[in-house]
Amino acid sequence: SASQTKTVKFISGNKEFIGKGKVGDTLLDVVVNNDLDLDGFGACEGTLACCTCHVILNEKHFEREDRTNPAGEEELDLLDLAPEVSDRSRLGCQIKIMEDDPEVIEVRVPSVTKDQRSA
Ligand code: FES
Repeated sequence: SASQTKTVKFISGNKEFIGKGKVGDTLLDVVVNNDLDLDGFGACEGTLACCTCHVILNEKHFEREDRTNPAGEEELDLLDLAPEVSDRSRLGCQIKIMEDDPEVIEVRVPSVTKDQRSA
């Protein structure tokens, strides 16, 4: 059976930040709970107000999220403002670890973050 604890690898430029999370945790939870040194990530603590938690998912991950947990209007509006936005961009505070995720989940973190609240 699928494991309830997963490893999440955040790739930012040539750096990797690795944390553990449980099924149901958001990617932001993983950053916070593992005290990952991702500068400025998750500034609004998951309240859909900043876009500093911007992540770029791999194709398979993105497609599944798009089917089961599509971005809402607020998320899309914030992503419009995110630097380095791509067609596989999501907000990390809205993406939860799922039981059928691979044991190691990889996401890319843009090298630039912008806190929408200070724009
Ligand atoms: Fe601010 Fe996700 S943490 S929008």
